[in-house]
Amino acid sequence: MSVDVQRRLDELRASIAHHNERYHTLDAPEISDADYDALVRELRALEADHPELADATSPTQAVGGPISSTFAAVEHARPMMSLDNAMDADELRAWAERVGRGLTAATEDAAVGQDGDGDVEADSPAPPVVEYVCELKFDGLAISVRFEQGRFVQAATRGDGRVGEDVTANVATIADIPHRLSTDAPPDVLEVRGEVYMTRSSFDALNARAEAAGEPHFVNPRNSAAGSLRQKDAAVTATRDLSFWSYQLGEVVGARAGEFATARHTELLAALAALGLPVNDHVETFSSIDAVVAHCLSWQERRHDLDYEIDGVVVKVDDIVQRETLGSTSRAPRWAIAYKFPPEEQTTLLRDIQVSVGRTGRATPFAVLEPVFVGGSTVSMATLHNEDQVQVKDVRPGDTVVVRKAGDVIPEVVGPVPSLRPAGSVPWSFPTHCPSCGNPLVRPEGEADTRCVAPDCPAQRDQKIAFFAGRGAMDIEGLGEQMVEKLTAAELIRDPADLYTLQLDELTALDRVGATSAGNLLASIDESRGRPLPKLLTALGIRHLGPAAARVLTAEFHTLDRVMAATPEELAAVDGVGEVIANTVTTWFALDANREYLERLRSGGVSFGDADAAAAADVASSLSQTLEGRAVVVTGTLANFSRDEAADAVIARGGKSPGSVSKKTLALVVGDSPGSSKLTKAESLGVPILDEAGFEQLLATGELPDGTA
Ligand code: IVH
Repeated sequence: MSVDVQRRLDELRASIAHHNERYHTLDAPEISDADYDALVRELRALEADHPELADATSPTQAVGGPISSTFAAVEHARPMMSLDNAMDADELRAWAERVGRGLTAATEDAAVGQDGDGDVEADSPAPPVVEYVCELKFDGLAISVRFEQGRFVQAATRGDGRVGEDVTANVATIADIPHRLSTDAPPDVLEVRGEVYMTRSSFDALNARAEAAGEPHFVNPRNSAAGSLRQKDAAVTATRDLSFWSYQLGEVVGARAGEFATARHTELLAALAALGLPVNDHVETFSSIDAVVAHCLSWQERRHDLDYEIDGVVVKVDDIVQRETLGSTSRAPRWAIAYKFPPEEQTTLLRDIQVSVGRTGRATPFAVLEPVFVGGSTVSMATLHNEDQVQVKDVRPGDTVVVRKAGDVIPEVVGPVPSLRPAGSVPWSFPTHCPSCGNPLVRPEGEADTRCVAPDCPAQRDQKIAFFAGRGAMDIEGLGEQMVEKLTAAELIRDPADLYTLQLDELTALDRVGATSAGNLLASIDESRGRPLPKLLTALGIRHLGPAAARVLTAEFHTLDRVMAATPEELAAVDGVGEVIANTVTTWFALDANREYLERLRSGGVSFGDADAAAAADVASSLSQTLEGRAVVVTGTLANFSRDEAADAVIARGGKSPGSVSKKTLALVVGDSPGSSKLTKAESLGVPILDEAGFEQLLATGELPDGTA
């Protein structure tokens, strides 16, 4: 038994030491933070259960990683500590209880000291009042910056907490960090601790430059910040646009040191800001742990609203005397804890890279992954977009890869972990032939996409039918990709029009299709006959003709026959259509094969727009046109409108609702789980941001609510 325990302890200690070096010294982690945390937790638990196997050199006793020889060593005047983690609300509450107990015990000790009898008094002191201060947990790397007589003189990384690396020349290039403190009377020495990080926008710009130069991608802002800071040549650091947040004091010496011996941490932050040091705005104090928990959960939802990455919330005791009472363990203070968000990045095995062919013939490579839980769901596939993306990322089957799923964004393979690449692996190459029909794939010069151009490719046909039946189009329940494949394989259908002549006995004759599901499918097909015209127009899959253009065309022409009869000029004159759409639409309707297909849809009973729809559109257009020509973009989920309904409401008032934000956007309406790119863009362009109530007001009055910029 204890042999096994000892073996597991040795394994864990060695593995954690290895990963510490990868992360802290080499800036090239091999496993996700979440996996690393799990190893440390397992080791802590084992050590707690087996105190007899304690080891002073265990990584649990240390902070950070070993020091590299590239930089001179700097001994920290005061140690730079780490933080303990809370992975959920219960662990946060357990920490608050420990804080409460620690403070109560100290008061009791003091009381015992006074009356000297050692009994706990009947009227034992009231539970201590604790004010918690919450800061964001910035995902960067900790440094200590030293000012002497108010001048920046030195900067060091955390290193092992006792000795760090001298990165003075590199830190001197960070614009956020003043070279001189803004005070006439600085203390002799002032050390400020905080986090160096890279904004998302700088990270994106850095990757765009790397891509343009044909250099490898950076995996995430944290690794880029760490790698940028620890460059041998500070001139390289200077090109990397790093930023800094201050959150802690190190050594303070001199006659004016007392000014920084504030009673509260929040006062210290204000004092640091007054010196011209960057202090983050999102600092809030709470007097109950319930309020702290609510605050942490609320940031967990909003983490993508920021232009920098955070991986949690740091909760600290605000009162400095209480902090001293609580003290620290060998590696972390007892007066603070890091509430960690669930991970959005994980590492997993890339089993294979396959290519799927879509309805337009586009061949898209995608990653087949060892399933991994990340960003709130299990991910087993992720798109790799196109040939160049695979090449830029240089991911290969057999690689361990970093997978990222942030918020409602689709999962992404960020890149490989090069140090874990199996020997003998070769770069992946794009297949030369369509995996579905076997015809050659083509990639026209200068284009990013590779395509199957065979007219009768089964994959394209199936995808077209699935698109026709999909949400946003004819919305035929029960007709997913698999069912489509069954129907085409049995040669029951060749295109969507064939759906409308399907018979019950044809369906029940299919493998594993019972009478009930066959009946349900026929019922949903029947229901789709009456879909409003914008759905049918979208379902046709005409290039460039998306739901928004389909809606404005319907509002203008009411029936499919009138859309078909329109000239390109008449179509292009419709606001929100334009020449490109007008041309593809007329070209599509001009083809005999398409006209024949439409007639088969018509004789299958599919509605081509009718008097009712036209009447409804007339009602809509009788609304006063308060948003005439204005664009209102919607992101996230609204409570009272689907996306389509929100767009319809804007269009009914003469406006439009495009899919992206620009300078001309009147307002961005933000619901739950909004897309971060629209939000960031709106913020950077100064586009007013509305919640749902503000949107309803805009619809009712045509005016932006008071107080919106
Ligand atoms: S306070 C003695 N505040 O998280 C406590 N740390 O996991 C000193 N971090 O080493 C740290 N944001 O690199 C503190 N607002 C914040 C922070 C923060 C990020 C980092 C820091 C620390 C690590 C511990």
